Amino acid sequence: MIKTIDLCKTYTKFNPPIPPFKKGGIKGGFVYALKSLNLEIKKGEIFGFLGPNGAGKSTTIKLILDIIRPTSGKAHLFNIDVANPESRKKVGYLPENPSFYDYLTAEELLWFAGRTHNIDGDSIAKKTGELLELLDLTEAKSTPLRKYSKGMVQRAGLAHALIHDPDLLILDEPSSGLDPIGRRKVADLLLDLKNKGKTIFFSSHILHDVETICDKVGIIVEGELRFCGKISEVLHQSVQGYEVLVQNVSDENFKEILDKEVNCHREGDTVRLMVGEGDLWQLIEFIKSKNLSLFAVEPKRKTLEGLFLELIKNSKSSS
Ligand SMILES: Nc1ncnc2c1ncn2[C@@H]1O[C@H](COP(=O)(O)OP(=O)(O)OP(=O)(O)O)[C@@H](O)[C@H]1O
Ligand SMILES: [Mg+2]
Repeated sequence: MIKTIDLCKTYTKFNPPIPPFKKGGIKGGFVYALKSLNLEIKKGEIFGFLGPNGAGKSTTIKLILDIIRPTSGKAHLFNIDVANPESRKKVGYLPENPSFYDYLTAEELLWFAGRTHNIDGDSIAKKTGELLELLDLTEAKSTPLRKYSKGMVQRAGLAHALIHDPDLLILDEPSSGLDPIGRRKVADLLLDLKNKGKTIFFSSHILHDVETICDKVGIIVEGELRFCGKISEVLHQSVQGYEVLVQNVSDENFKEILDKEVNCHREGDTVRLMVGEGDLWQLIEFIKSKNLSLFAVEPKRKTLEGLFLELIKNSKSSS
């Protein structure tokens, strides 16, 4: 559904750029916003695109929608080169900061969007009713958008992206500015669309949403794709260690635990220990032999947040 081949984008630092033929060439240098991106998103997938501020997420989205042109490389939607407008016919797009003619009401906005997609009046009215209900905008449907809050504009933007029942959704931070209930609604909506066979590519800073709804995730840092894979590969990687909670620990027992040189932390008579798989059984034997009460043993796995932070930290230490 989406394919990018060595996609690169370099911006000039100053806008408007100083023509290179002028003496001194382009002053201020370049921003290498995207460095040779190769991505493939298949039909029916939900792909979460993560990265810190300025990593190149919106640049990628704008390139695959032909809003901006690449410095080099190519992108295809539905196997059609994005330079061909035909590639966008079945695409719904939510920009990073949606803004519309603010004298329109949500109903009028959707009517306008529906007509530009050549949808007939009855179908627009039906779809508008459904979308406004789904996105909690029914009560505000006759209010001009200038009176909407940020979260309401965001939800109107989502309805706008969905009015023509697109097969591919490209959403730049769909949950931005939404309260927890709004975020939950958007997550449910995306899952519902996936169940209907739609393909979704979205950028986000909300790792929890990505973790719970995506099939695949890409992490971009400084214009480079540092990780791309299934969420299950991240979350179900081998256990990294175990957290063991022990209760009724006396001062004497605690001294013995300290002698074992394990990573531990004491709160009252409870001790929290972190051990590797090799030391776990030995520790349990010790707990049994001292008649301590074993409260919990919890395996610690790598999380998406852990991976994200690790990739950013690595890039900072190598720069
Ligand atoms: N029009 C532009 N002219 C010059 N530089 C730009 C332009 N647009 C983006 N950039 C630069 O390109 C880099 C990538 O920006 P981009 O907007 O793609 O980041 P992002 O990952 O979407 O960040 P955020 O999470 O803040 O939305 C940044 O360094 C940014 O300053
Ligand atoms: Mg962005």
